[in-house]
Amino acid sequence: MAEFDFSNRDSFGSKFGAIAAAAGSAIGLGNIWRFPYVVGENGGGAFLFIYLAFIFAIGIPVMLSEFTIGRKAQRNPFGAFRKLAPGKPWYLVGLMGVVAAFMILAFYTAVAGWTLEYIYQSIVNGFAGKSSADLGQMFDSFRESTFRPILWFAIFMFMTSWIVVSGVKNGIEKYAKILMPILLLLIIILCIRSVTLPGAKDGLLFLFKPDFSKITGNTILEALGQAFFSLSIGMGTLITYGSYISKKDNLANTAVSVSLTDTFIAIMAGIAIFPAVFAFGIAPESGEGLVYRTLPNIFQQMPGGYYFSLLFFILLGVAALTSTISVLEVIVAYFAEELKMTRKKATIVASLSVSVLGLMAVMSWGPLADFKIFGKHVFGMLDFTSANILLPLGGLLIVIFVGWYLGKSKTKEELSNQGTLKAKYLNLFMFLVKFIAPIAIAMVFLNGIGILKF
Ligand code: TRP
Repeated sequence: MAEFDFSNRDSFGSKFGAIAAAAGSAIGLGNIWRFPYVVGENGGGAFLFIYLAFIFAIGIPVMLSEFTIGRKAQRNPFGAFRKLAPGKPWYLVGLMGVVAAFMILAFYTAVAGWTLEYIYQSIVNGFAGKSSADLGQMFDSFRESTFRPILWFAIFMFMTSWIVVSGVKNGIEKYAKILMPILLLLIIILCIRSVTLPGAKDGLLFLFKPDFSKITGNTILEALGQAFFSLSIGMGTLITYGSYISKKDNLANTAVSVSLTDTFIAIMAGIAIFPAVFAFGIAPESGEGLVYRTLPNIFQQMPGGYYFSLLFFILLGVAALTSTISVLEVIVAYFAEELKMTRKKATIVASLSVSVLGLMAVMSWGPLADFKIFGKHVFGMLDFTSANILLPLGGLLIVIFVGWYLGKSKTKEELSNQGTLKAKYLNLFMFLVKFIAPIAIAMVFLNGIGILKF
């Protein structure tokens, strides 16, 4: 068996490439599909407020911690912990990340497949002349069916694997750079159309006016889970990407730019969705179907809506793809570097095994609708457990690792690029990762799962 050649690891070609790839991972269905749906289910403004606080106090420090670990170790998450903490059980955090990657990739690819259905419906003009109720019905009957959701899932999984096989520079980076700015432009246009709809004001009030009476322990945990999910943190995706970032790049700048961009896009998606949700009489708590039910209504009220809808769903699919590749990459880097598989074999084994879970997720509204664990179907179970449990737990351990194990001087070495940058924020960062972030995560977590009550 050939040893993996660590001196010849792939890497990002440029500073912009590194930011674009990390942003490509962060920006995806998490912003445009998941964010509006959890905001809707958790009562709007107050949730948004807590979410933003978590991004800044916890999310950015966790992201920077992941970059630090990855770039210092030059390994996949599992190998990174083993290299930085030899003989210690920290590698289990890496292993937990691989498990989370399996779960996320399974349900995420299912939703990404819905995007392909909506590209298809855009092409055949399937939304034309339908009322809001008809469009809701259309989504439900698609999701309850068997063949098409599975077909789209398989196609999406194949595309993800295909890009991952072709490697970091030629695959991931090339696609991420070009298309994300166009998606942002389309979302801005959608926002303009949405806020000028009659009745739009109620949607804006829902999104921005906090009503703290709607907040429960579970809401706060959902906000934390969404922050982690949206930033792609807590499972080692950004440890893996950090290991591809050049030793000359400024990690803190990268983490802050990626987080701000990601958050901006989530809020823009909220502004595009909620005015339309209220204008078209859709329930904000419609769950995972919210965005797919709402968007076609907006397209119908726009000049050139046919092309707009087509372009939008294509770009949403691409945004999802730059995220799925980053999740698959975690599993593949682990298989390749630790289990010494070739990249191709690692990708095939990983995507086939994820597909087993994924197909169960896809069928959660169809053939497996009655198969429930703790009252949730497979999809809901994977979504909830990965985002609200595994990611916060992973994040907790990651900040503790940097704050208490790696410590200030080694962290400084990496963040200052061996003394060439100033890293003036270092004391603040160390304070956040040693105290604020771990205590906050632990409290939200214990409160959310009902062990502690505040
Ligand atoms: N953040 C991505 C999104 O918002 C999804 C994603 C990619 C992710 N990699 C991840 C989520 C790692 C959690 C962990 O669409």
